[in-house]
Amino acid sequence: MLEWLALPLAVGVAAFLPKGKIKDETIIKQIFENKGVCIKRNDVLQYPNLKSKIQCEGYTTYLFSMPYGLNTEDIEDVLSAIKEALQKEVEIEVDGYLKMEVFHEQLPKKWDYDADLFRPGTWEVPIGKNPKGILYHDFDKYAHFLVGGVPGFGKTVFMKSIFHTLLLNNPADVEFYILDLKGGLEFYKYSSLPQVKAVSCNVYETAEVLGAIVEKMKKMELHFRKNGYTNINDTPIKKRTFVIVDEGAELSPDLKVGEEKKYAQFCQAALSEICRIGRAVGYRCIYGTQYPSSKSVNMSIKMNIVSRISFIAASQVSSRVILDDIGAEDLPSIPGRAIYKVEKCRTVQVPYIDDNMMFKMMEERKDDLIDSRKSRNHSTDNRPTRNRKN
Ligand SMILES: Nc1ncnc2c1ncn2[C@@H]1O[C@H](COP(=O)(O)OP(=O)(O)O)[C@@H](O)[C@H]1O
Ligand SMILES: [Mg+2]
Repeated sequence: MLEWLALPLAVGVAAFLPKGKIKDETIIKQIFENKGVCIKRNDVLQYPNLKSKIQCEGYTTYLFSMPYGLNTEDIEDVLSAIKEALQKEVEIEVDGYLKMEVFHEQLPKKWDYDADLFRPGTWEVPIGKNPKGILYHDFDKYAHFLVGGVPGFGKTVFMKSIFHTLLLNNPADVEFYILDLKGGLEFYKYSSLPQVKAVSCNVYETAEVLGAIVEKMKKMELHFRKNGYTNINDTPIKKRTFVIVDEGAELSPDLKVGEEKKYAQFCQAALSEICRIGRAVGYRCIYGTQYPSSKSVNMSIKMNIVSRISFIAASQVSSRVILDDIGAEDLPSIPGRAIYKVEKCRTVQVPYIDDNMMFKMMEERKDDLIDSRKSRNHSTDNRPTRNRKN
């Protein structure tokens, strides 16, 4: 009788053994097997095969050979199961081999923005922390940015941190047009800064602002043609113009009726134009939206935005609209937790900032913000002389 009891007991104990006792690579291998991540060749199942394991500071890299026929998507499909089983953050890259980085530490649940994050004179902004360090996004490399995710998890805070960084990194050379379509509640308070050229609060004002931007951009294009310039990064022009859209869905013609519909159509066309030709001539678009459907993220806008970030998404479909990848639907419900995608997906915790922190840092740099505009040398940057505010 006792012998009969012994077996179920052993199985029961094994189920309660701490996960740490089983090697991570064993768990990964088991998941590949259980989920059928393999191809069949000559009646033999071939799985990704572990070739090497490298211990790095803060993470372990596993290198697997990949049987022909398996691809990135096959691994992405089981990534959330791997993360859940290991209870660790995991990043993958498939390039002939499968490189899997398993982080030893969990991401912080919150961390505050601070002045050490500035990189003055550059167009680099902090995106977030992962166990390897702080990731930066360079707007001179990747001009436009798509920001998505369900409401309440950090899109506006993230766009404010980008605005704040760009402003204080380049007070003399940056200018902003902000389309704050939630009635101006978030950004209108910054409209008196000399660098902020306009804050529009509804679809009518937005159409006017975007019309003026496209006109300026076309003049810039002409200027580039005359001078034989191809890309602003290779010219002496330092100025960069950022168009921030907080809630792009408000510009979706499908969600509007009557006269507003026509204005929304105009706005979407103008934004597509900015995303299409702005990169070369110094216009950058940061496009935030909570309804990631093909209606709110117009195809031609999306096509021209390579870099993406998604906070928690409502579904795999939503995650795909923003990232062209699944994964954001499985993020934990932590505000500021997001997947940043440039070339590959990386999970990060975005820095937290609020208006008080921003005002305080701006106050400390008041002279830079105001004086640098007055004393700058206009002769080298081809700044157009007309704008909405002067
Ligand atoms: N990076 C962050 N770290 C910690 N908490 C955050 C972060 N971003 C946002 N939050 C919290 O989530 C709330 C909603 O953020 P918000 O940016 O307004 O979301 P969304 O624009 O996506 O609706 C904020 O008021 C803040 O309390
Ligand atoms: Mg918001």
